[in-house]
Amino acid sequence: MTISSSLMSDDKGFGKAVYIATYGCQMNEYDSELVRSILAQAGYVFVDGANEADIVLLNTCSVRENAHRKVYGHIHEIRHKRQGRPVVIGVLGCMATGLRQELMDDRALALDLVVGPDSYKRLPQILTAIRAGLKPAPTLQGARYPMITTTMEHPGYDVTLSEFETYADVYPTRSAGVNAWVAVMRGCNNFCSFCIVPYTRGRERSRPVENVLDEVKRLADDGFKQVTLLGQNVNSYRHDGKDFAHLLDEISKIKRIARIRFTSPHPKDFPESLIRVLGENPKVCKQVHLPLQAGNDRVLALMNRHYTGAVFMDLVTRIRRACPGIALSTDIIVGFPTETGLEFNDTVRLMQEAAFDSAFIFKYSVRPNTEAERRLKDDVPEKEKTERIVRINKIQTDISLGKNKALIGQIEPVLIESVVLSKGNSVYGRNDANKIVVLPKGNFKPGDMVQARITAATPHQLKGEPLAS
Ligand code: 5AD
Ligand code: SF4
Repeated sequence: MTISSSLMSDDKGFGKAVYIATYGCQMNEYDSELVRSILAQAGYVFVDGANEADIVLLNTCSVRENAHRKVYGHIHEIRHKRQGRPVVIGVLGCMATGLRQELMDDRALALDLVVGPDSYKRLPQILTAIRAGLKPAPTLQGARYPMITTTMEHPGYDVTLSEFETYADVYPTRSAGVNAWVAVMRGCNNFCSFCIVPYTRGRERSRPVENVLDEVKRLADDGFKQVTLLGQNVNSYRHDGKDFAHLLDEISKIKRIARIRFTSPHPKDFPESLIRVLGENPKVCKQVHLPLQAGNDRVLALMNRHYTGAVFMDLVTRIRRACPGIALSTDIIVGFPTETGLEFNDTVRLMQEAAFDSAFIFKYSVRPNTEAERRLKDDVPEKEKTERIVRINKIQTDISLGKNKALIGQIEPVLIESVVLSKGNSVYGRNDANKIVVLPKGNFKPGDMVQARITAATPHQLKGEPLAS
């Protein structure tokens, strides 16, 4: 770690303009909003680009390999563009905890701070220490994931994972809009063998029901029409004996919030209470993201997913029975270590059987320190992974198109989000199932709920005509 010399010698030259770049999942989007709020209270201001900033914070993702490359590239680009003009650069998020040693040791990156997802409240203090020009001590050696607290010798370094931090007392600074993300639980205890998240984000913990309700009420006051509840595994939500289904029902009582979504539940413990709420509560959107990962039972066991293909399909059937027409999406990993071509066919078969509305399909990539990295060889050749991903994407595209075409002629409530950017003569919103619906512009504004007849479909979006009101 280095500290720009100008910051050490001349505190006055160090301004408070911050630029935050966010990578990865919605949880990171939410965390960046938390960071904005924490820093704004400490007098920092925000700018739209790294070039105008005094401090650049990259809120990073570790879930797949290519995320790392992007972040390294971005840091080098910022340094190059600044051409020696001083800037404090920090890495936040999952890379901070997952790659702590590597990041600190990398002299070319020359990072000033490395702060993990449970330490954002300390950012003002950390930045003040950096401003004061404290010189960092040599990097710590040792285990890859030790619990280390910042010391005065390491002013920019805090990757401590907490069992309690939920940021319940921070109201995130969001840009105005229609949808607001709300984290209701953090961390993950599942340890799927391919996944780095339990190591980078620590153990599960939930926010109190009342505290979530307060945030959503405030969001309604601020004009948001939809909330999307976030957690690495939302159906592990538990506080004072109250479960996730209870939380959804309570939130739905807040007037002016029209829609509630959530992501992601784990198929292994999807309770009946949640299926009931999906079927019965009109504000809870008819859409569930249900990560399957693989269709073969041996591979699922190796992944430590705690369900079989048959159990997953039974869940799909029970959800569809309670909630006909519900849209289901999924995540799939192809080329998990030792997955044979025949075993991959089981994934294809299950995809066809489940007929998801959409799917995110990834090639397996080795994540440091995970169970899969320690015990298995990444032995499916890259070419084979590519062939599998191409094949499954094609199949899914056809299923998605079929599902969307079946909606032509139906009347759907569409929550308007924004004017389409390209020509400006249409608007887009989403139906209950979270599908994008493009409508002719009219007089709609973001937040309007419009009844529309679906007139055309592609695999990824719908077109509609508003009904005359
Ligand atoms: N390789 C490929 N995909 C992964 N995911 C998580 N870890 C890995 C990995 N090591 C995918 C899973 C998860 C999604 C968020 O990212 O499908 O559901
Ligand atoms: Fe990762 Fe599995 Fe936890 Fe999801 S449930 S965050 S895939 S360990």
